[in-house]
Amino acid sequence: MRINVLKDYETLSRSAADILLSTVKENPKAAIIIATGSTPTLTYQLWVRDLLAQNIPTDNLTIIKLDEWGGLPMDHPSTCETYIRTYIFDPLKLREDQFISFQSQPEVPEQECLRIAQEIQRLRSIDICALGIGKNGHLGFNEPSDTWSTVPFVATLTKESLGHDMLQGDSSKVTFGITLGLNTIRQSKHILVLANGTAKTDIVNTALRGPVTPRCPASILQELPNMTLLLDQEASAKL
Ligand code: PGA
Repeated sequence: MRINVLKDYETLSRSAADILLSTVKENPKAAIIIATGSTPTLTYQLWVRDLLAQNIPTDNLTIIKLDEWGGLPMDHPSTCETYIRTYIFDPLKLREDQFISFQSQPEVPEQECLRIAQEIQRLRSIDICALGIGKNGHLGFNEPSDTWSTVPFVATLTKESLGHDMLQGDSSKVTFGITLGLNTIRQSKHILVLANGTAKTDIVNTALRGPVTPRCPASILQELPNMTLLLDQEASAKL
């Protein structure tokens, strides 16, 4: 595990974008798990800008959505779907077959998890997984729990997650979360985790210095040798 502390959010985002950029340069057929939320937004903007400016081919990439708010229409402004389409899919003009993506209103959510698991199984490998850390220690919608998750699954969301900024104060239509499990995350060749700001200081400290326990899913990062954690000074303040 590598931990880099960067000066600020902009430097952190530049560094993360460079890692994503190298991944695509090294393997134009890379499969990439994409987390959403406020943390990686500038990273994706810089990454996409550079991919386009440097004419790096993206027509063989596969983008995998990490998780989704179950119950919202796919095109709702708060979905992870809308986020990925806005920041990555549309600007890169990707094709639908380059996107492995949970439906947000599946008829049978468990079936949707199976479908995604099967699509991922068909990939040669997952090259990189971009992750944030939730204020409650979640990774994707792997929420604090008594057991570790494995495969994609339907999650019961905590109050903290339902208060996430993405939902802009309205979680009324969100009835579940749907997410990749930790085995899929762990099978990525490289796991890139980002955390910035004072809101993440305590959870970063708990995740890295506390016990490895499913009560704090991000504590699993301690056991991942192929993980790069990029922090700004505020998020790293208690380490
Ligand atoms: P954030 O979300 O990047 O908006 O802080 C991270 C998360 O909740 O997983």
